[in-house]
Amino acid sequence: MKIKSLVLIGCLLSVSLGSVATTPVYLDNNAPLEDRVEDALSRMTLEEKVALCHAIGKFASSGVPRLGIKEIWMSDGPHGVRQEINFNNWGAAGWTIDSVTAFPALTALAATWNPMLSELYGKSLGEEALYREKDVMLGPGVNIYRTPLNGRNFEYMGEDPYLASVMVAPYVDGMQSNGVAACVKHYALNNQEKWRGSTDVHLSDRALYEIYLPAFKSAVDAGVWSVMGSYNKYNGQHACHNERLLMDILKGEWGFDGVVITDWGGAHDTKEAALNGLDIEMGSYTNGLTTEGEGFTYNDYYLAAPYLAMLKSGEVPMSTIDDKARRVLRLIFRTSMNSNKGFGSLTTPEHYEAAKAIGDEAIVLMKNDKVGKEPLLPISTQGKGKILVVGDNAVRLLNEGGGSSELKARDMVTPLQAMKDTYGDRVEFAQGYMAGRSMYNREEIIPQNIQDSLRNQAVEMAKEAEIVVLFGGLNKNGFQDTESTDRKEYGLPFSQPELIEALTAVNPNVVLVLLSGNAVEMPWINKVPAILQGWYLGTMGGASLASVISGEVNPSGKLPFSFPVKLTDNGAHYYGEASYPGIDQSQEYMEDIFVGYRWHDTKKIPALFPFGHGLSYTTFSYGKPVVSSSKMSADGSITVTVPVTNTGNVEGKEVVQLYIQDVKSSLPRPIKELKGFEKISLKPGETTNVVFNITPNDLKFFEPESHQWIAEPGDFKALIGTSSTDIKTTVPFKFV
Ligand code: BGC
Repeated sequence: MKIKSLVLIGCLLSVSLGSVATTPVYLDNNAPLEDRVEDALSRMTLEEKVALCHAIGKFASSGVPRLGIKEIWMSDGPHGVRQEINFNNWGAAGWTIDSVTAFPALTALAATWNPMLSELYGKSLGEEALYREKDVMLGPGVNIYRTPLNGRNFEYMGEDPYLASVMVAPYVDGMQSNGVAACVKHYALNNQEKWRGSTDVHLSDRALYEIYLPAFKSAVDAGVWSVMGSYNKYNGQHACHNERLLMDILKGEWGFDGVVITDWGGAHDTKEAALNGLDIEMGSYTNGLTTEGEGFTYNDYYLAAPYLAMLKSGEVPMSTIDDKARRVLRLIFRTSMNSNKGFGSLTTPEHYEAAKAIGDEAIVLMKNDKVGKEPLLPISTQGKGKILVVGDNAVRLLNEGGGSSELKARDMVTPLQAMKDTYGDRVEFAQGYMAGRSMYNREEIIPQNIQDSLRNQAVEMAKEAEIVVLFGGLNKNGFQDTESTDRKEYGLPFSQPELIEALTAVNPNVVLVLLSGNAVEMPWINKVPAILQGWYLGTMGGASLASVISGEVNPSGKLPFSFPVKLTDNGAHYYGEASYPGIDQSQEYMEDIFVGYRWHDTKKIPALFPFGHGLSYTTFSYGKPVVSSSKMSADGSITVTVPVTNTGNVEGKEVVQLYIQDVKSSLPRPIKELKGFEKISLKPGETTNVVFNITPNDLKFFEPESHQWIAEPGDFKALIGTSSTDIKTTVPFKFV
């Protein structure tokens, strides 16, 4: 008996050991990633490998069904999970369970200058993506704010490469901690929407490396799993299969191990796509964004049958497909076949709280003059006077329109609703101007007599009100803050300048709340005592705005881009059309490295509101800095410690900013560049020491001849302040 049972146990053991041994490594979630990838690759046919490299639907790409390797589901986008789109065309699928949290737009996130909120953003959005069963979220966008006319600036993180770099990394971390890939976009140089599919960008290597690439590199260093190529060309070659951008820089210098996905319809050539590092082609033909042909199937994509044929004929090497397939498999195992990931959640109270917290810290108090003895803001909830809320943007759903970042939000708290919730029946409403319907690529022209009569009505009501709060700005209509078109004018649209002039003529207490992702011209600025920049804040936007207006929240946002007085004060526009929008679809970034405040500083053209600017309902004083050493060596660092005190009456947050100035350099450099910041919270009377650690990396510029980042010995200054122009204290030091 004993022997028999031993034999039986032995048989069972060998059966079970045998079955463990034959479980394919690629299906073992605990096996090392690269082992899974190699194992899967070794089992695949050439056809199966090629199938990984192109779309099988508008937002899906293939897995390997025979091996049980799942496909990848993607979705826009940066500010929330987009409504479900039909599998094969752009129509809305008409689901009733795809309403989401609309998070604040990325310009707003950047304006918080708070990396912890960026991580919360990525994590919360990733949870919504998981619930909606998405593997790749098409965002965040980190194209640099070059011109205020760019229709998509609201989707990006401002004009400064350092700020965008610091803010993008935690977003990626937070998102990917869910097993959902971020797809940082649009790589690279998609800095305008006009001619976005064809414009050929030329710029110096210094501008490329110092200004336009750092935020992408930061996302790669943070371990981003996918990158989206952009529509435009760079040096004559489309960015989605640009040898220099993808092979030399992204996959070469930076060692990116993830997947390059086209922008939708961004592929144009099989051989280039095969050789130059494109991994997944999306959106071509089949009702994609390109219109080259009808009757094409997914198998006609550049990286489908034509690629297979080139591989078979030897026109492109087999190593190209193995590299692409490895990368796509890596992405699949990190996301769709990651069995450690959770189930996610949608429109939870926590997500609404996250959206509110981000919105609260994003709003920038740009101006707050005294009217009588006190600044106009905040407006006390204890008062009795009438508050006239004016403006199309007080009631417009700004989650709609704008292109691919549009959202079907479950809830949107409009500014008017939030003002009523806060101030009750003190609030009255007048539309004041009409902005028309939100149409992609098109604009509705509103007859002047309608604008005149709306304005007249608002002006009559303003005469009777104690305070007027105008919610204006831009919106997501064609030629406003939207994809595929740039703005046509720097000024406010829809007859708002006339409205502002008329309201301020009858009531001195006008608060202007600008909802936009872009700077606007303000020739009327001296007539408006208080201005808030309120961005596009999504689901909880109205609530955040009312919290700041009432003083329940003390504003602490800082501008992530400069507001030039006039358009030609901006570096991209200074040189005329050769620089923006280009001539014959070719453009030269003639302002070079002098983008945003770097331009205003260097050319001594003051901005109306500078980069980094933002007021508070309290005041802060900066004490005497202490520097650890007046000399820094190549392998050393120094610290600068600055005491900051809240000298006002209410608790508040301040963003303490560190800029570095290279006093003398062999190549032209900006007067100063942001190299550190810290957001602190202080109670009235409280002081805290802010410590900045400065290393040789903070002193470097990109030297194109040697293709190196270098720091030249000599004199430097650490400039510490509350904006790029309001420098409170300066510490000289030497680099030896
Ligand atoms: C946009 C991308 C977007 C894609 C998919 C393109 O038009 O440029 O940002 O992710 O469409 O909707």
